[in-house]
Amino acid sequence: LDELAEAIAAFEGCPLRGMGARQAVFARGNPQGSLMIVGEGPGAEEDARGQPFVGKAGQLLDRILTAADLLDEAFITNTVFWRPPGNRTPTPQEQAACAPFVERTLALLKPKAVLLVGAAAAKAVLKTDDGIMRTRGQWREWRSAEDGIAAPVMATLHPAFLLRQPQAKGLVWKDILDLSARLRGEVVEPGA
Ligand code: URA
Repeated sequence: LDELAEAIAAFEGCPLRGMGARQAVFARGNPQGSLMIVGEGPGAEEDARGQPFVGKAGQLLDRILTAADLLDEAFITNTVFWRPPGNRTPTPQEQAACAPFVERTLALLKPKAVLLVGAAAAKAVLKTDDGIMRTRGQWREWRSAEDGIAAPVMATLHPAFLLRQPQAKGLVWKDILDLSARLRGEVVEPGA
């Protein structure tokens, strides 16, 4: 993972790199944990501090994970490692440039489950144009192309959305409880 972080910091193949980002933002959390979380991309606070999900949305994410007793299990990264200008959504091309690193992270961590946070992460990882209200809360399989490592993956709503629409918190809590049950081995999918 340290080598991966160094490779990301030296990587010049993502167009976002030259668009004003201060530094590469890779990950934070427990690399030995059972849960990998993938968000959209760094914002202003993350760009300044070099860590993902440390602004307002990140603090809400941490509160949700703490409430479910999952914070210590989580390793948190994003679909892109450089802040998009003006906090716009990263383009599919920018996400594709960073995707091999995200997949390598999956292969190194071998998490028990992956949580995709927000529509941009869901679309990129699940390779779908379906909206987040359709994809959230459903288990799929995510397999890294190069290493063939797979993990069950679920999308949920972004905490930045919850800050604007607090009434949607119940949906996220439902997803988190499902995730928690899976991590604790309480749910076995047919055929899994
Ligand atoms: N939103 C994200 O999707 N990722 C971050 O790191 C911060 C905010």
